[in-house]
Amino acid sequence: MASSNTIFALTFLVFASITSLLACAYEVTHDDRAIVINGERRVLLSGAIHYPRSTAQMWPDLMKKAKEGGLDAIETYVFWNAHEPVRRQYDFSGNHDLIKFIKTCQENGLYVVLRIGPYVCAEWNYGGFPVWLHNRPGLKAFRTNDQVFMREMQNFTTLIVEKVRKEKLFASQGGPIILAQIENEYGNINGPYGDDGKEYINWCAKLANSFGIGVPWIMCQQHDAPEPMLETCNGWYCDRYKPTNPTTPKMWTENWTGWFKSWGGKDPYRTAEDLAYSVARFIQLGGTFQNYYMYHGGTNFGRTAGGPYITTTYDYNAPLDEYGHLNQPKYGHLKELHSVLHSLEKNIVYGNITTTKLDNSIQVTVYGFNGTKTCFFSNANETADATINYQGTDYKVPAWSVSILPDCKTEVYNTAKVNTQTTVMVKEGDKATDEGSAAALRWSWRPEMVDDTILQGKGQFSANQILDQKVANDVSDYIWYMTSVNLDKDDPIWSKDMRLRVNGTGQVLHVYANGKYVDSQWNDYSLFETNIKLNPGKNLLTLLSASIGFQNYGAYFDLGGNGLYGVEIVGKKGDETVSKNLGSHKWSYKVGLHGEQNKLFSSNKNSRSASQWLSDNLPTARRMTWYKTSFKAPAGEDPVVVDLMGLGKGFAWVNGNNLGRYWLILAKGDCPTEPCDYRGPYTNNKCLSNCGNPTQRFYHVPRSFLNHGDNNNNNDLVLFEEIGGTPSLVRFQTVRPGTVCANAYENKAAEISCPGRNITEIKYANFGHTRGTCGGFEKGLCGGAEDAMDILKTACLGKESCSVTASESVFGATNCDGSHTKKLVVEAVC
Ligand code: GAL
Repeated sequence: MASSNTIFALTFLVFASITSLLACAYEVTHDDRAIVINGERRVLLSGAIHYPRSTAQMWPDLMKKAKEGGLDAIETYVFWNAHEPVRRQYDFSGNHDLIKFIKTCQENGLYVVLRIGPYVCAEWNYGGFPVWLHNRPGLKAFRTNDQVFMREMQNFTTLIVEKVRKEKLFASQGGPIILAQIENEYGNINGPYGDDGKEYINWCAKLANSFGIGVPWIMCQQHDAPEPMLETCNGWYCDRYKPTNPTTPKMWTENWTGWFKSWGGKDPYRTAEDLAYSVARFIQLGGTFQNYYMYHGGTNFGRTAGGPYITTTYDYNAPLDEYGHLNQPKYGHLKELHSVLHSLEKNIVYGNITTTKLDNSIQVTVYGFNGTKTCFFSNANETADATINYQGTDYKVPAWSVSILPDCKTEVYNTAKVNTQTTVMVKEGDKATDEGSAAALRWSWRPEMVDDTILQGKGQFSANQILDQKVANDVSDYIWYMTSVNLDKDDPIWSKDMRLRVNGTGQVLHVYANGKYVDSQWNDYSLFETNIKLNPGKNLLTLLSASIGFQNYGAYFDLGGNGLYGVEIVGKKGDETVSKNLGSHKWSYKVGLHGEQNKLFSSNKNSRSASQWLSDNLPTARRMTWYKTSFKAPAGEDPVVVDLMGLGKGFAWVNGNNLGRYWLILAKGDCPTEPCDYRGPYTNNKCLSNCGNPTQRFYHVPRSFLNHGDNNNNNDLVLFEEIGGTPSLVRFQTVRPGTVCANAYENKAAEISCPGRNITEIKYANFGHTRGTCGGFEKGLCGGAEDAMDILKTACLGKESCSVTASESVFGATNCDGSHTKKLVVEAVC
């Protein structure tokens, strides 16, 4: 038996060697083929997780799942406006704790790709730039040779680099960061910036270099990236991409795993087959670094969504869903691919590549390495399956797919053959007795005080012009524009049917005249017109403009308008249209809502305004109304959402945490009735769902926002309702895997799992031919072993996961004659 001293000494040794390993600097370089870590070329599979789009409490689980999903690295942008909302006032707390995020990656054995930007695009407000930057004296434009801009950019990027360096997080210091990015897709939009753009990008490269961080820098979508910046590709496919510089490896920084959502739009999704195809093709044709954008999309909390019109959910149809659940089959199908690619790493990065193009978009690639051969067979045909004869053997390769044969003999993976279960999520918590059910919620309310604006036209500042919303440094979505209009009956525009015409950037506008509500318009208006009744004498015109996030993309997007830019009153003199331009009137401005200033959303029960909530006569369909309720956190650990059906548009807060903008606007247009065909090039308009329903009905309430424990109703939900709705249907629910459907081709195993719970029912099982999709299977042309259901029940019921092989030895002989591919298909309930 070892003495306690020996054990102590051994433990110490192990501990010491782990810590020294962690602290050991390692070298990251590149050659024309791959990123090289400590002298070894690597295949690197990475996934984007943006730290402010989840909570610090969620990060360990997300990272664990990313690691288990076969990722080597996590990629994130750095969000300038999150960290420096006010000039030189910094925030690195909570889900802005970049250092903690990077360390969480490291703790989970993941490298980090740090895209500092500071321009990020990312459907993030103003592309990540703080609005105060636009208002800096002397600044003309962002992302160009503008000294004021560059000074601020240098200040922020230096701050980030030094913060990270201080914590020894670069690979050259033993940390997990293997790559860093400066700028973002500047090459896509640099044309209009001319020579100033060129000077700027050279300056960016010099700045990055000057930091001496000891790991390579990348510039995505920048074919003329100044050396030593590495150019990379972004898109749904990068197989045909070739870096301009022959010494740059073929790297793909954004493989879009789905797409983002816009208010009033449908849900885009991208199939697992097509995503896997894009990755396998990229590697087949010489790619060695690939990053999923997004691996976990998450949530645009608060006012962080930009675009404009980007929803609060940023689920992105990514492999991990908004709440952190596995999005199956996408997650599992990629996991299998990752494991095959990792097992072939040496062949891929060191092998001699020979690609032969055959007819009909078929390509055979052989990687020869150390006397071994690995094959990739791809069929880029959009409809026709192919049979490839390779060295005397026929291989079937379905349309739009890649087969991988590690020994050029046996196919171990085909991108179109999905062996992973499909998981359908369910929401729970509808019973009247459930915590947070609609019946359990008692509401109080109060009006947003608007007398000073719509009755009195009082503002905080004024100007003889119509100002852009950026003037207010983006502290609120809302800004009131007020002016008085003097009219007498001799005025050329005076008539019975005068109209108000407003030119704006088309987000939301509410109009009041002489204290009365007139009209509202939203979603993509650029010209707003409404009848307006004005009186002889003095009239008060009050316009409330609400932004839905600032622009985030395009050349000079920073200069694009937000809010109103033209107001006129149009009348008729006989047949002639005459107008009165109010552009140079004296306008008075008020920024934000009283409720925002008074923090009605805060959970501070002792605040001065706490007693002013009314519990009688709860109004419905009332504009500009605050609602409040208390609730008990749903039991358990499943993610929580709040269902805001019945409401219009506004903001929701739980215990003072801003869940984001809500809007129950419907997804316009029709969706295809057939499931999306994975074959053929994907675009964000190809595969769509959720037509006719609210674009976003459910809003994530991260568990860390909630007070748990036995105290009843110790959580507050506050809503600000802008356009009118009813809170009576609002409820809290939990989200969990409900139905799982698995399938396995002959001699493969169907893996069924209900993470964190047991399989309670087998609804369907068949080894043979099955028709339909998950939730609606029926037996097809052949197969149908009588006891398939019993076999599955015995193997799976009461277990968290089970695995059953699709073979005749398990299920007995079938009557399938070979004209149909036999599959085991199972539907189970969690
Ligand atoms: C890219 C951009 C990303 C993101 C993506 C679309 O062009 O680099 O930040 O905006 O498009 O989701």
